[in-house]
Amino acid sequence: MRLGFIGTGIITTAVVTGFCESGMEDLHIVVSPRNRERAAALHEKYPQVVSVAADNQEVIDRSDWVFVALLHETAEQILEPLVFLPEKKFINLVATLSLRRIREMKGEREILADVVPLTFAANRVGPVVVYPPIPEVVELMSHVGTPVPVQTAQQIAILRSTTGLMSAYYMLLTVIIGWCEKNGLDEATARQYITSFTKAMSEKAAGFDGPLEELAREMTPGGINWMALTHLEKADAYTPWTEILDPILKKVVKE
Ligand SMILES: NC(=O)c1ccc[n+]([C@@H]2O[C@H](COP(=O)([O-])OP(=O)(O)OC[C@H]3O[C@@H](n4cnc5c(N)ncnc54)[C@H](OP(=O)(O)O)[C@@H]3O)[C@@H](O)[C@H]2O)c1
Repeated sequence: MRLGFIGTGIITTAVVTGFCESGMEDLHIVVSPRNRERAAALHEKYPQVVSVAADNQEVIDRSDWVFVALLHETAEQILEPLVFLPEKKFINLVATLSLRRIREMKGEREILADVVPLTFAANRVGPVVVYPPIPEVVELMSHVGTPVPVQTAQQIAILRSTTGLMSAYYMLLTVIIGWCEKNGLDEATARQYITSFTKAMSEKAAGFDGPLEELAREMTPGGINWMALTHLEKADAYTPWTEILDPILKKVVKE
């Protein structure tokens, strides 16, 4: 398996780490020389698997699968001069670059897909959205997470939008832990408790058969969960979470 990565940034570092940790046999990964430090660090950590190409064209020439993880402002301009033979499998990570545009620029190919991995790919956990649901792509991405194959460009855009809530979610954990500290608990205990608590809630929700609102409303009347939910609903605290998803969706809808 020969994988190439153009744009060696945060997400490439995570995905390459995940592949290297997956135990896949006969794996060869070539990364672009930018970012220099990240590329060198990956090579240093996995010298048998990861090499650093001299330039982006060399990444393509030495790979069967090419992952493109460039920033959206410059992606088209960087891809423009590169030669992608039709047999190269093209995996796009750029949120705003459409598969239609890639076809226009680089021609038709059998395997051309959009994927949305997250930085948890380094630990080989978490969802990886795959569109279109090409079995070979789904299989490949299963080495770095749980593939979520979807049928339409709109579906991948919707799921990609929700990934925009990650920082807000971490900030929510941060302020809750901060509140615990302000009231006299040490940070380590608060963090251990809150992360275990939110993980258990997610696991319960994942396995729950009914509508999730049933879980939300299953509480002692007048109890502490009732107090918190009533207060937050009165303050309309949930609306901003979905309100911001509308402009995010607009930004990431591509086709
Ligand atoms: N971060 C995530 O969780 C995530 C998840 C899914 C998808 N994505 C998408 O993946 C893309 C990359 O995101 P990122 O977070 O990894 O950003 P990033 O860390 O800024 O990575 C972009 C990389 O592109 C490199 N680059 C700049 N010019 C280049 C060139 N001419 N040739 C080759 N590489 C070049 C940059 O190197 P220098 O540092 O030297 O400029 C940088 O390492 C974005 O489109 C983003 O939407 C990100």
